[in-house]
Amino acid sequence: MPDLIDLLKKAYSEGNRYNHERIYDVSEGVVAKSFITQHEAIYEFEFGRELHSKGIQVPKMIQVEGLEFTIALKNYYDLWFLLMQKIKGMTIGNIAEADRSDAYRQYREQIGKVLDMGINPIDSDWHGNSMYDSDEKKLYLIDFGQWSRIGTATDLESERERVSGPLAFRYNRMSI
Ligand SMILES: Nc1ncnc2c1ncn2[C@@H]1O[C@H](COP(=O)(O)OP(=O)(O)OP(=O)(O)O)[C@@H](O)[C@H]1O
Ligand SMILES: [Mg+2]
Repeated sequence: MPDLIDLLKKAYSEGNRYNHERIYDVSEGVVAKSFITQHEAIYEFEFGRELHSKGIQVPKMIQVEGLEFTIALKNYYDLWFLLMQKIKGMTIGNIAEADRSDAYRQYREQIGKVLDMGINPIDSDWHGNSMYDSDEKKLYLIDFGQWSRIGTATDLESERERVSGPLAFRYNRMSI
């Protein structure tokens, strides 16, 4: 069985993406999200690990790995990768009509639990930041890169209000 890091190097060098330009298809059960800095990769890894350990529906975090690539004799660049469980599903804005109410119910429930932990799940309303596996009938929150414990009680309350009302996931963050 090849080592996970060898598989990561292979996926990166062959450009094997999974759903998104930042996400590499490492193996049957594992993807890697790319980061420019180690700090960002670790921030998301630590958040994900804590959330998973507290029973929040998020992908299981595996490890953070840095890779260095040589361009010419003296030129190189490095990239950081967060290896995590591959979610075999669709982003919440793209799921089948039949699954929508269950996905939204789970989304509300999971965001409610995150808020109860005093965490502000910033950006979670972006439709690409949660995925629904329609075989498992399970919703996963993903992308904790901007989540924060710094939010005030008012921030948390307004987020709680947003999820309790009709959910309208933004479809394209480029159009303001
Ligand atoms: N663990 C995972 N398993 C499967 N697909 C994933 C996983 N994590 C991310 N993806 C896919 O990659 C997309 C982008 O992931 P993520 O939101 O973490 O990165 P991003 O740079 O914030 O992208 P965006 O700005 O589009 O939200 C997700 O919408 C999803 O389709
Ligand atoms: Mg995102």
